[in-house]
Amino acid sequence: MCGIVGYIGRRDATGVLIQGLKRLEYRGYDSFGLATVGSAIEVYKKVGRISDGEAGATGLAGYAGIGHTRWATHGEPNDINAHPHTDCTGRIALVHNGVIENYSELKRQLEGRGHVFRSETDTEVIAHLIEEQYDGDLLAAVSAILPRLEGSYAVLVIAADTQKIVAARNASPLVLGVGDAEVFAASDMTPLLEYTERVVYLEDGDVADITPDRYTIYYDGREVERPIELISWCVEDTRKGGFAHYMLKEIFEQPQSFYETIRAGIDDHVRQMVMEADEITLVACGTSYHTALVFKYLAEPLCNLPIRVEMGSEFKYFTPPLHGLVIAVSQSGETADTIAALKMAKARNCPTLAITNVQGSTVTRIADETLLMRAGPEIGVAATKSYTAQLAALMQIVNARCDDAFDDVLSHAHLAISEVLIREIREAVALCAKAEHVFFVGRGPFYPVSMEGALKMKEISYVHAEGYAAGELKHGPFALLTPETPVVAICTPGPTYSVMASNIKEMKARRAPVIALGVDGDKELAEIVDIFIPIPNTHLLVQILTISVTLQLLAYHTACALQRDVDKPRNLAKSVTVE
Ligand code: G6P
Repeated sequence: MCGIVGYIGRRDATGVLIQGLKRLEYRGYDSFGLATVGSAIEVYKKVGRISDGEAGATGLAGYAGIGHTRWATHGEPNDINAHPHTDCTGRIALVHNGVIENYSELKRQLEGRGHVFRSETDTEVIAHLIEEQYDGDLLAAVSAILPRLEGSYAVLVIAADTQKIVAARNASPLVLGVGDAEVFAASDMTPLLEYTERVVYLEDGDVADITPDRYTIYYDGREVERPIELISWCVEDTRKGGFAHYMLKEIFEQPQSFYETIRAGIDDHVRQMVMEADEITLVACGTSYHTALVFKYLAEPLCNLPIRVEMGSEFKYFTPPLHGLVIAVSQSGETADTIAALKMAKARNCPTLAITNVQGSTVTRIADETLLMRAGPEIGVAATKSYTAQLAALMQIVNARCDDAFDDVLSHAHLAISEVLIREIREAVALCAKAEHVFFVGRGPFYPVSMEGALKMKEISYVHAEGYAAGELKHGPFALLTPETPVVAICTPGPTYSVMASNIKEMKARRAPVIALGVDGDKELAEIVDIFIPIPNTHLLVQILTISVTLQLLAYHTACALQRDVDKPRNLAKSVTVE
């Protein structure tokens, strides 16, 4: 999803901006652009990916500028729709992350007053609105037009002959990095990591006036102080470290990120919140939604507590009666649908908790309390280590509520994760890579694990995959089973083992090849399936973790076999900041 970056200081702005945009690449983008300021504004923008020699190719120079990676929402990806956008005179340029919901009306009014639009974007209206107000005072001009914008924005604005950047935020993330006689601005902290560890998170409604030596933040026209916080991530965390892809590196980091999240524990406020809850609702999207479902399966019977899981995108329009603790689960902390759901829970006076990987992210500013996962930066678009770290965080909630039910298991689970990282899955990969459709099935907590396995497979390999509750297969999908349609079935000891084994036989009777994930030494299962992938025979929670990791590897290697762009799958964004 769109990312923005700004720089003002003593360095060559173009180099800093291109480097910053490359750090934001993981969010997903289709085009990019930058502008620097001197006696005139110079703009460079392009559809496609940022190449290695891009900084030189821009031909731009200067000590201040703004940059953008675009993930098209209004207008197709092309050079014209790419940001920065300028006003009619070319003296003002800006980059924007978010959506201006009333842009059509504003555009009509501006065109009526003679403004000429070049792009199809919602963003361009902001440049023309500023143009009407600008008389040399950029801060005043930007502040004057912001009340007319409806929707979400993080904007960075520059003007010719003005050595400053004006930044503003409303419902889209924006963080300042404070250096020595230089200031950085970005959608998240990753572009700042190599320059400074001191950051300032802007709040909704803030406008910042930024020069190399000073930044001043205003809220409601009055100067305000925002605390400087120290970033806990370092730049090495954002490098590939010898792995072919970020995704593979992040899969391999899971023993550590799981362990670190457990080690960090939960604080007394969170513990108390959990103890007092008489009902829990989790709101989440994508992979985080699957984690929340796994939590429901594990925690509800143990804690004897009603637990509901809602998709952020549905919640806003079909809000159920709300009662008790509401937990927003979000790796990035910036998913617009999850944020909207969290805000609704707050509006209904529910206690709220954010479980996120990103310190200072929007969910942490809204929720009453935060439980921070310790996964470190996740760069691959497909969530991997954040999924297991979310489980680590959520299992501590179970622990807090149910007499440390998982204490022993949690302390050694990371060792079992390490074990499956090197299991042999080549045969299964070959089968999936030649398939058009793959089903993933399981029962109980393995149902959401199957959904997550299918999501990983489809998002990075583009092989169509569906995650199903195993018992539901016979109510429709059986019609699709053929010798060319593999089924990945999860079948481990426990109350569902025998019914799963029967389901597998039914699939085999329809000649579908079955890849089964079962526990080490389960010869009976191995004999009835085509491919058997063993996982360690331990606690249910550890089975969930090890099977999930194995399915991540299955998706990863299938995507590699099909030569897909694993870290940046087509049409997808890491951080989805629009509803
Ligand atoms: C995007 C990402 C997914 C992620 C989902 C929710 O779709 O590609 O990997 O699971 O957003 O993101 P969140 O940051 O809220 O967990």
